[in-house]
Amino acid sequence: MNGFSGTEGKVVAITGASSGIGEASALLLAERGAKVVLGARRSDRLAALADRIAEAGGEAAYARTDVKQRGDLVALVKLACDRYGRLDVLINNAGIMPISPLDDLRVEDWEEMIDINIKGVLYGIAAALPVFRKQGFGHFVNIASTAGHKTVANQSVIPERSSLCAPSPRVCARRPAVNCA
Ligand SMILES: NC(=O)c1ccc[n+]([C@@H]2O[C@H](COP(=O)([O-])OP(=O)(O)OC[C@H]3O[C@@H](n4cnc5c(N)ncnc54)[C@H](OP(=O)(O)O)[C@@H]3O)[C@@H](O)[C@H]2O)c1
Repeated sequence: MNGFSGTEGKVVAITGASSGIGEASALLLAERGAKVVLGARRSDRLAALADRIAEAGGEAAYARTDVKQRGDLVALVKLACDRYGRLDVLINNAGIMPISPLDDLRVEDWEEMIDINIKGVLYGIAAALPVFRKQGFGHFVNIASTAGHKTVANQSVIPERSSLCAPSPRVCARRPAVNCA
């Protein structure tokens, strides 16, 4: 049995699907038979990705999604339910990682990271959890950085979102790590 044996037919929404890990995850999951629902701000890239998946015989829907906007996450989850009848998995992948020494005081970067990397994940949970409860099933996958667990120079403000996990309706949100490195 391989690690993807349960993927066929699953409905998986992915934030930050327009590039990098999110895009690669979408391609792999679609190849393994999942119906993927793509969210990110660059909708031109989402459209191209959805076309690529469809041309390869897969299924994909997409919606322009800014995870700083709570309503955009609600709309992404709704798209999954309207198009495919349910949502099995939400992958909270959208994130940014501006790198600088703490004493550069790039406060705007810190705020962006908190808004996107923490609040964006919480908005995703808030959008999908009611659906998961109603369905009686559903999984969150939150993509995190190792810098959330370990102090790394110039990565001083790393929201530790790996602890934002909801294996059951219980959600434990630890404070963001502020490392003086
Ligand atoms: N690659 C690594 O080594 C590494 C290490 C640690 C953690 N991570 C984490 O892994 C995740 C994916 O990173 P990556 O390396 O694949 O980076 P990436 O290629 O830059 O992808 C980031 C994705 O997040 C999306 N995004 C950014 N802000 C957003 C917003 N406000 N709303 C919706 N989507 C947004 C981007 O799409 P748009 O710009 O189109 O919105 C993009 O699709 C991130 O959370 C990152 O922090 C990556």
